[in-house]
Amino acid sequence: MGALVDSWLSGLKKAPFLHSSRLLLRPICVGDVAHIQSSVNDERVCNNLSYTPHPYTMEMAENWTRNVNYGMANDSCCYWAICDPKTETFIGTMGLSISREQEGCEMHYWINADHWNNGYCTEAAKRTVIHVFEDLKMHRLYITHRAGGIASKKVIAKCGFVFEGVIRESLKRLGKFEDVISYSILQNEYLAMKKNGIY
Ligand SMILES: CC(C)(COP(=O)(O)OP(=O)(O)OC[C@H]1O[C@@H](n2cnc3c(N)ncnc32)[C@H](O)[C@@H]1OP(=O)(O)O)[C@@H](O)C(=O)NCCC(=O)NCCS
Repeated sequence: MGALVDSWLSGLKKAPFLHSSRLLLRPICVGDVAHIQSSVNDERVCNNLSYTPHPYTMEMAENWTRNVNYGMANDSCCYWAICDPKTETFIGTMGLSISREQEGCEMHYWINADHWNNGYCTEAAKRTVIHVFEDLKMHRLYITHRAGGIASKKVIAKCGFVFEGVIRESLKRLGKFEDVISYSILQNEYLAMKKNGIY
């Protein structure tokens, strides 16, 4: 497989620029791949992601970027780099799996561990919720976390997701079966939160 070149990754450029009070969500570019590799290779991040192997190599990060580019070209997903717009520091990634037929999306995220507990994920996730309902006009946004994913559970609660249920032992990770917890926001629930000033 050849080296990644930005001009080949036109799918990635479909991500719209999303601004929030402290953050910029922008298209992922080749210059981010080394940051993605080193962030995900950190066991604090990797151990909380469902299917990501450790060690997480540069080749894996490049393949992930190629797959996201392909998915974005086909409109089946949208991924962003989460950055500090002032310093251009790379903070993490935000993503959506998209089903136009079902008018639904699934949210995915991780934050570089050096930037945890600053409220960045909550801020980026809330900005993405707005994008899903205001720009993409989706009916349903859902998210899951593994039962032990306490930080993600908190982010999900702060965004106003509604608990749906436990998908029992649906994740096999490090040789053990784990429960996965599922949540969603429906369009009418988003509109109610917007009316109440939560969005
Ligand atoms: C989940 C993750 C994205 C959160 O990023 P973040 O920017 O630190 O999130 P925020 O700062 O917005 O919120 C994190 C919340 O979790 C809390 N938290 C973090 N670790 C915790 C722990 N071990 N126990 C209890 N609460 C914890 C924080 O205190 C904060 O809550 P608060 O605002 O009420 O204080 C980050 O931890 C991460 O990348 N984890 C690994 C990958 C992952 O789990 N991805 C999600 C897959 S579903």
